Amino acid sequence: MSEEKKLTPKLLIPEVQLQKRVAELAREIATDYQGREVVAVCVLKGSFIFFSDLIRQMDLPITCEFLGVSSYGNKMVSSGEVKVTLDINEPLEGKHVLIVEDIVDTGLTLFYIMSALKARKPASLKSCALLLKPECLKTEMDVDYIGFKIGSEFVVGYGVDFAGKFRELPYIGYLEQGH
Ligand code: IMP
Repeated sequence: MSEEKKLTPKLLIPEVQLQKRVAELAREIATDYQGREVVAVCVLKGSFIFFSDLIRQMDLPITCEFLGVSSYGNKMVSSGEVKVTLDINEPLEGKHVLIVEDIVDTGLTLFYIMSALKARKPASLKSCALLLKPECLKTEMDVDYIGFKIGSEFVVGYGVDFAGKFRELPYIGYLEQGH
């Protein structure tokens, strides 16, 4: 099989299903926060499309912050090391903070982010992930809002990349292992 053929993502979650679930999550979150102002934290880069769709459907007063982290480099497995590439400069003390992640795989990245933001004394701290891979979890992570639970496949699309590619796909696809 040619390299190009192997790197063609196979469909896992179609666009329509993604959009429906994102709308449901937005409603659920808005109901739970009951009009309180939320600081929505977009974890870059992978969650930028999910984040944009989610916040536009959340009927709440929102401010947006962006946190850059990198843990995979160009690999398909987590290094376990989280590097902050862009920090939040606004104070979070006393604020209702919602972390928006693309994928929780081992959970190490979210665990690291939760600990780092908890230290800034928010009034509340919750997390929302579009995708959760329960079989891969290595931490006791409680994710407050989950879009879809998936298997251990390596996924791309809807903001999520492999070596910088496939973020623009409107659906979630998976890549076959072995490249
Ligand atoms: P964790 O620290 O192992 O939970 O990994 C979290 C981060 O790794 C996610 O925010 C993604 O950026 C990346 N990641 C985990 N699984 C995948 C995948 O299947 N495709 C692309 N990126 C992934």
